Amino acid sequence: MEVCVALDLPSREENLVLARSLKAYDIWIKIGFRAYIRDGKDFIQAIKEINPHFKIFLDLKLYDIPNTMADASEEIAKLGVDMFNIHASAGSVAMKTVMDRLSTYEPRPLVLAVTALTSFDEEHFQEVYEKNIDTKAEQFAKMSYDNGLDGVVCSTFESRAIKEATSETFLTLCPAIRPFGEASGDQKRVATLALAHQEGVDYPVIGRPIYQDKNPQQKVEEILKVIATF
Ligand code: C5P
Repeated sequence: MEVCVALDLPSREENLVLARSLKAYDIWIKIGFRAYIRDGKDFIQAIKEINPHFKIFLDLKLYDIPNTMADASEEIAKLGVDMFNIHASAGSVAMKTVMDRLSTYEPRPLVLAVTALTSFDEEHFQEVYEKNIDTKAEQFAKMSYDNGLDGVVCSTFESRAIKEATSETFLTLCPAIRPFGEASGDQKRVATLALAHQEGVDYPVIGRPIYQDKNPQQKVEEILKVIATF
């Protein structure tokens, strides 16, 4: 299990302060919409300069026609990030087109597909997909696996079933982690670190429980200590 810290703070400087406070740790850094739209690719560079061993997950959740997604994926690969994601609902042709386009990149970034956003509850998920979350997430995961993606973004509660339906090595990255049962905020299907471990989660993504803590560095240290016991 490798921890992924979401840099979702309101300003570039606050995100950099957070990253600097965590520079001693072997962690993934998740750069999302807010930071990337505001601070661009220079920000990725700035994070790498803090610690060249930080792994970067660019969380832009691409969703468009296959060729446009492949073009964007190629630009992302050129940025030198270690992982990015697309929406599974863009479909199998988009997945295949993206993976074909990246096949010449060595090393290429890991590509994950978003199954069901963890902020969905059953009612609102049904409104969009007309299926229940478990069924659809598993279907999206199989499609992603069959088209050569490396894994999926899903909730902890789907991680085990997805691995059983695909492969133990098919990666699951799971947001909505509340390491020790902290406040859930807008997330609906939250899980502790212990549960994430039990469900085979490869990458727990943690935002607010770290950056809203009065001592984020100490919080990350506690999280890594617990993970080391798994
Ligand atoms: O603060 P919190 O720990 O809830 O942050 C979760 C992070 O994971 C946020 O950056 C959010 O955008 C992201 N995310 C998510 N659900 C997904 C994919 C990404 O919460 N399905």
